[in-house]
Amino acid sequence: MKQNSTIYEALGGEDTVRRLVAAFYPRVQRNPLLGPLFPQDIMPVQEKQFMFLSQFFGGPSLYSDAVGHPMMRARHMPFEVTKERADAWLGCMEEALIEIHIEESLRTFVLERLSGPAYHFVNTP
Ligand code: HEM
Repeated sequence: MKQNSTIYEALGGEDTVRRLVAAFYPRVQRNPLLGPLFPQDIMPVQEKQFMFLSQFFGGPSLYSDAVGHPMMRARHMPFEVTKERADAWLGCMEEALIEIHIEESLRTFVLERLSGPAYHFVNTP
């Protein structure tokens, strides 16, 4: 990743973030720990994640513009988020990054950035 560039730019912008969420959610749905938490119609969640990750990676503030303050930990409170589920979420994200051919050093950096929030959202022992 070039110095001073954002993850969003390093990934290649909107198109890559779209491909990432499209590779991620089928894995989430198939995962025995995660699948049952999500609605059958995953598209609205996928679209919100596209907006959120665009902004989290340093791109346009699509999520805040459309939905308001992210308050992501609070939005996850209705669900039992365990450490095992955070691991599973990050595992699906790693596989999705591999599927869309994000090279290893950028992939590791992205996963590191996401592991902060993922473990922060844990709310159930
Ligand atoms: C730690 C494990 C995680 C679990 C088990 C989890 C689970 C969920 C569930 C069940 C939903 C609600 C789906 C629905 O609308 O019915 C959701 C929504 C969402 N999650 Fe997660 N999530 C996790 C981590 C993360 C992380 C690390 C991020 C981003 C950094 C994230 C971003 C989002 C976003 C943007 C939404 C949509 C919020 C909205 O409705 O506006 N999640 N998540």
